[in-house]
Amino acid sequence: MAYNFYVNLAYLLGAVGFVWGLRLLSSPDSARRGNFIAGLGMGLSIIAALFAPMEGAANNYGWIVGAMAVGAIVGYLAAKKVKMTAMPQMVSIFNGLGGACAVVLAGVELYLFYHGKRMLDTGGLVIILLTLLIGAVAFTGSMLAYAKLEGLVDDRKVTFRGHNIVNNIMLLVTVGLGVWLCVEGKESGTTLPIVVGILALIYGFSFVAPIGGADMPVVISLLNSFSGLSAAAAGLIYGNNLMLVGGILVGASGTILTVLMCNAMNRSLLNVLIGGFGTSGTSAAKATGDQVVKEVTMNDAAIQLYYSQSAMIVPGYGLAVAQAQKVCKEIDDLLEANGVDVKYAIHPVAGRMPGHMNVLLAEADVPYPKLLDLEDANSALPNTDIVVIVGANDVVNPAAEDDPGSPIYGMPVLKVWEAKNVIVLKRSMRSGYAGIENPLFFHDRTRMLFGDAKDTLTKLVAEIKTL
Ligand code: TAP
Repeated sequence: MAYNFYVNLAYLLGAVGFVWGLRLLSSPDSARRGNFIAGLGMGLSIIAALFAPMEGAANNYGWIVGAMAVGAIVGYLAAKKVKMTAMPQMVSIFNGLGGACAVVLAGVELYLFYHGKRMLDTGGLVIILLTLLIGAVAFTGSMLAYAKLEGLVDDRKVTFRGHNIVNNIMLLVTVGLGVWLCVEGKESGTTLPIVVGILALIYGFSFVAPIGGADMPVVISLLNSFSGLSAAAAGLIYGNNLMLVGGILVGASGTILTVLMCNAMNRSLLNVLIGGFGTSGTSAAKATGDQVVKEVTMNDAAIQLYYSQSAMIVPGYGLAVAQAQKVCKEIDDLLEANGVDVKYAIHPVAGRMPGHMNVLLAEADVPYPKLLDLEDANSALPNTDIVVIVGANDVVNPAAEDDPGSPIYGMPVLKVWEAKNVIVLKRSMRSGYAGIENPLFFHDRTRMLFGDAKDTLTKLVAEIKTL
């Protein structure tokens, strides 16, 4: 009795740690602390779970500790080694493994049930089936999402004509067989759960297949919420409140994030899931016609920046690719020393994952108050002397405002063209994520500075130092 009390108390503290941690994660200032507190909550819960009286657990401590040690070492090394640009891939693998865990748990429970070692009513079977289905989709879906992000899979090679129709039929058949299994129980035979499990694994893969590689962050967030839901369902199987709370928190936050990302791109989730946007097939920009691109020399750029009163840096995915955040901060310091007011305009979907730019700039010690969100940046832009775009493209595309035919029409963008001068740092005239031309590059006030962003900024630093 007293034993149970302490275990539940530890679970409660663990759950408080998760909620508190999530709260702190909402600001870059407190995010590290939030991560630490949520981690403490998880550590405490794991220790409590090890002490929780559970049938047959006493004989398994060797396995449990062994598996935890392997998982902890692999997780630690992976987190240490991963590059900022590969973070979505890592999150994807972790999601997938969460889903795989749920599949294994459901498999064990079904095995025990079919061999008369576990009594389950229809409600219990429904929960196990949900754990199996959601976990399987999260597992194979996340593995394919990882492979797409890593560039290991060509989007066009894993899809076929009518793919979405086949997916819908497969989903209906899988759910139908699952319902049959729950109604018939053991009478349905041992083959049925295996067939349902295999179909769910195939469906997870097939569901992610048509989605454009570049839409993967949204899908990963959705799969993240699936892995949370499968963990919550597993919590119901074991009557473990902490698993339930943790799973629901992951499920809810993943869903909210998915919706926020879709809103920030002005696209519906259905539009993302149907796929095609930003796939390898659509990534070439249209011909530029006879519009003329004007370039700026390194020396002119340095002079314009150094002698301006206000400058706004707009980071995008290219900043992450070039890993140019620290040089960016160096320029910021040099300009501030000359009295220039330097701010950063952060678009909610700049980069390839939520908070991508915030994390990079925090890594370079850019003070958080210098970061303006979309609305504040847009209000400040008309009074800004010079904007420096560092590897951003879609998030500064005026077509979102004035071209109803554009795939990004309606997406909120940073109206950089309202500033007095714009300098764009990128390597070529290639398009960004959406695969479309950007009229900003041909705008009267825009000057291009071609090259790798880190390289260009390093040269700019040298040039500014000579002034
Ligand atoms: P993009 O539109 O993808 O443009 C990035 C630009 O960076 C490219 O045009 C590229 O041009 C340039 N670049 C790449 N490497 C570079 C380097 N080493 N040095 C200099 N420039 C480099 O990026 P964005 O403006 O950040 O927009 C993000 C896009 O991703 C949006 O369309 C958004 O909807 C989408 N998206 C974002 C998220 C989240 S949550 N962030 C999720 C899903 C989708 P060059 O090749 O010519 O250099």
